[in-house]
Amino acid sequence: SVEPAAPIGTFTFVVVSNRLPVDFEEAPDGSTIWRTSPGGLVTALEPLMRSSGGAWIGWPGVADCDVEPFENDGISIVPVCLSARELEEYYEGFSNDTLWPLYHDVIASPSFHRETWDAYVTVNRRFAEAAMASAAEGATVWVHDYQLQLVPRMLRDARPDLVIGFFNHIPFPSYGIYAQLPWRKQILHGLLGADVIGFQRLEDAGNFTRAVRRLYGYPTRGVVIDVPTDTRQTRRVVAKHFPISIDAAGYEEMARRPEIQARARQIREDLGNPKTVILGVDRLDYTKGIGHRIKAFGELLADGRLSVEDVTLVQIASPSREQVGSYMALRDDIELAVGRLNGDFSTISHTAISYHHHGYPREEMVAMFLAADVMLVTALRDGMNLVAKEYVAVRFDGDGVLVLSEFAGAADELKQAILINPHDIEGMKDAIVRAVEMPRRDRTRRMRALRRRVFDHDVAAWSASFLSALSGGAAVKAGISDALGA
Ligand code: F6P
Repeated sequence: SVEPAAPIGTFTFVVVSNRLPVDFEEAPDGSTIWRTSPGGLVTALEPLMRSSGGAWIGWPGVADCDVEPFENDGISIVPVCLSARELEEYYEGFSNDTLWPLYHDVIASPSFHRETWDAYVTVNRRFAEAAMASAAEGATVWVHDYQLQLVPRMLRDARPDLVIGFFNHIPFPSYGIYAQLPWRKQILHGLLGADVIGFQRLEDAGNFTRAVRRLYGYPTRGVVIDVPTDTRQTRRVVAKHFPISIDAAGYEEMARRPEIQARARQIREDLGNPKTVILGVDRLDYTKGIGHRIKAFGELLADGRLSVEDVTLVQIASPSREQVGSYMALRDDIELAVGRLNGDFSTISHTAISYHHHGYPREEMVAMFLAADVMLVTALRDGMNLVAKEYVAVRFDGDGVLVLSEFAGAADELKQAILINPHDIEGMKDAIVRAVEMPRRDRTRRMRALRRRVFDHDVAAWSASFLSALSGGAAVKAGISDALGA
């Protein structure tokens, strides 16, 4: 057996992600509050962590927060502390001003700064060390997302006993875009430390494999990449798509609660009981196409194809990455557009866009999904978009119409949505009108098919298929079997 070179922990399953499932917050009286943190990653992993008894390594959401490991709601939490400077350079800088725009097809311009790259390396090492200190010999460590792409290699070099998985929650760009990254080889090298590298879409896995061929020339066969080792052998790395999902049954259960249904009715009433409620729910991010959506809606009101007497657009824009320049500019643009549109079209009794720059508890979101006749997901680029799946899971009544961008990963699966190209404003306007006017029978037929897909491929199925590929990888490593059938 291999002698581990680094400290050893006690957990046989360890998840590593930039953000913990809970964010640290200090109450006015000085006590600590732990709040559920934003984003799809947490929603997806929470159920698995609760059932596996593993450790979750991550950042508690504020700078200089030195907290001891603790247990939260059945999950062992191991906080990784980041200084204000590291946050600025690793999180706001390299992760969210370089990698995020680059991986989302340069919708905003990525910045390339050597100092922020150095911080990315330093912080990735801290996460890797924390993971090693938690992981028992032979443990499975599952690393998540673009903020931590160097961690798999760091783990493999120090702890060859570990089984290492990596899942990328966001798109992986085509080679022409990826090649812009000055550290493109280092990132690939980092990722190739994993046994299995998971992506959302087939296309993302293909882009990654092509980048490996172009930049390293390693042989690839289908989903398998042969990576040379120091000992002149090869390691087999699997790069494959595993579309992420949600706890569909959990969402439906919430939607069936009488108090949540009452809240949904209340929401419609508070909006003035419009004939149609259209809903958008996004982090306030330039990838989500919120501006395109507002433009289309405004033109429909101006053209008289929709009227504020009949239709209200509720837009939830949850605060995100507020220290990053492109996000500050986006907020100004969106709020200017909302203000103008409301100024032009709202009446004393009817507001055109009910806009909310807040995050909401899950129960409130479920009530909003129930209250919404039409759900707009108009992302310009999105790894998956779990909001689309949440809307579908909630609609046990078989009603509701999903308008979905073909540039969201979810479009590969949710084919019975009304699929749109959000850059085509005329096309989006037609799709919105079609959704508003769709007869009940068509709505039900589509929603039934969408629900079948989401319930058959829920988050438990997602993690099971990733982890079974990963344990297949371990078996291959141990020379037991080729469970991957490659
Ligand atoms: O999946 C994309 C992602 O960046 C996650 O990694 C993250 O938890 C979520 O979106 C929210 O972003 P942030 O952690 O930067 O607020």
